[in-house]
Amino acid sequence: MRGLLMKQTCFVCQNVDCQSRGSEQLMNELTEKVAARSLDAEVKPYICFGGCDFGPNIVIHPQKNWYAGVKPEDLPEIVESLAGGPAVTRLDTIDPSLKEIVYSLLDAGVF
Ligand code: FES
Repeated sequence: MRGLLMKQTCFVCQNVDCQSRGSEQLMNELTEKVAARSLDAEVKPYICFGGCDFGPNIVIHPQKNWYAGVKPEDLPEIVESLAGGPAVTRLDTIDPSLKEIVYSLLDAGVF
């Protein structure tokens, strides 16, 4: 079967802790890179994932990839994964129970 790529939304936390670590710049750069590749993905701000000590945090929905402590130099790899490459597992460091909570909120449509 082809077409395994679902529409993806990249939520980039824009609350104070993540912002103080550069999440606004990350969101802008990710938006540009996604547009430059014409990927079927949307980049959106998010209010807070509750992983404030480990940000900047980016969560890909509905694929359920959580990237913590993201730096600008990580973005090319993240974009590759959005284009169908493997998830960037080295940035997947968040506690599984927090992930569960956030993923169920996103699945329930709480943006
Ligand atoms: S400030 Fe980003 S997860 Fe809370």
